[in-house]
Amino acid sequence: MSETKLKIAVHRASDDWPGTYAERWIEALKEHSVDVLAFDFRETDVIERVRGCDGAMWFWRHTPDDKQSAPKILAAIELGLRIPVFPNLPTAWHFDEKVAQHYLLEAIGAPKVRSWVFWNYDDAIDFAEKCSYPIVFKLSVGAGAANVLKLDSFKGAKATVRKMFRKKGVTPYTFNEHRARMFTTDFKELLRVKSRLVMSIKHAFCKSCEPPEHYFLIQKNYAYFQEFMPDNSYDIRVTVIGNRAFGLTRSNRPGDFRASGSGVIDFSPENIPSEAVRIAHDISLKNAFRSMSYDFLHAPGGELLISEVSYCAPNWSVHNFPGYWDRDLVWHEGAIWPEYAEVEDFLEEILSKRGSSD
Ligand SMILES: Nc1ncnc2c1ncn2[C@@H]1O[C@H](COP(=O)(O)OP(=O)(O)O)[C@@H](O)[C@H]1O
Ligand SMILES: [Mg+2]
Repeated sequence: MSETKLKIAVHRASDDWPGTYAERWIEALKEHSVDVLAFDFRETDVIERVRGCDGAMWFWRHTPDDKQSAPKILAAIELGLRIPVFPNLPTAWHFDEKVAQHYLLEAIGAPKVRSWVFWNYDDAIDFAEKCSYPIVFKLSVGAGAANVLKLDSFKGAKATVRKMFRKKGVTPYTFNEHRARMFTTDFKELLRVKSRLVMSIKHAFCKSCEPPEHYFLIQKNYAYFQEFMPDNSYDIRVTVIGNRAFGLTRSNRPGDFRASGSGVIDFSPENIPSEAVRIAHDISLKNAFRSMSYDFLHAPGGELLISEVSYCAPNWSVHNFPGYWDRDLVWHEGAIWPEYAEVEDFLEEILSKRGSSD
């Protein structure tokens, strides 16, 4: 470690998500004898306060609040102040934006599920007339398989395209089982409607409660399709942090093609194909991704294809894995908190930049 003590700014706020990485980042930074300046980066003097720091960290999520503030503020620090940030731009500019990932994965030549993005109604309809069904439609944003639809015919595709271009657009978290129907005899559905009402009322009084639908920004004026990958009863997630690859598999909901959000997660290393680990390590290294989760599906021929990437995974989903594979695919036994791994890599990055500019 260098002689002068490092000082790192970490975003902390009263509305932090309970599972935020910030707590354990701060713990790890202190263990490395780093001075920590923890404050809400949305305060007006953020640039002045970060100016004197050696690095800045913000665990931002897929909420409209975070997405509208964090990328702008972090980019100003990274590009304007030229201070290293976590997550850096290459890692995070496409976070929770599947449309951006479509272009990025294509640009870097990653093995990905074939996908199409359209920016106007006519092109999208033209595609829907000619494509083979079923086809998968997704919103650019969202998690837990909300808004991920398997469309079986032109009729359904046309209605969806019309919604995106000719009608009001779509509010995230309102498709498939996330859709709340007021008139239903299904008991589970009734419970969901009730819980949504309670959630909305709670949110009005307590910002930390899960937000209601109208909190999300409406998605419109694009259409994103993916080729349907049949016969995948689970998906495979490999998370790469520096030289460490962790894994998990998620099983589909019963009678459904979708795994994400099912809650049926397995952390057995033997379920993770080494080819997925190799692909994930290779992409992260070549593209300066400091932390990245890769979701894989199998193509009909058996090939592993990336469906989606995401810079942050819940910390427990990394820690529950019993070890990691390094870039040589050598196994290292022992669970690790992602926050500790990220801090270790971030400090190394800062010190090596410092060393090269001396
Ligand atoms: N092109 C596809 N073909 C088949 N299944 C898919 C495809 N894309 C996604 N899925 C399934 O749907 C789930 C949700 O899709 P995903 O893109 O991960 O959305 P989200 O990240 O918003 O939950 C995935 O976990 C996977 O099981
Ligand atoms: Mg996903």
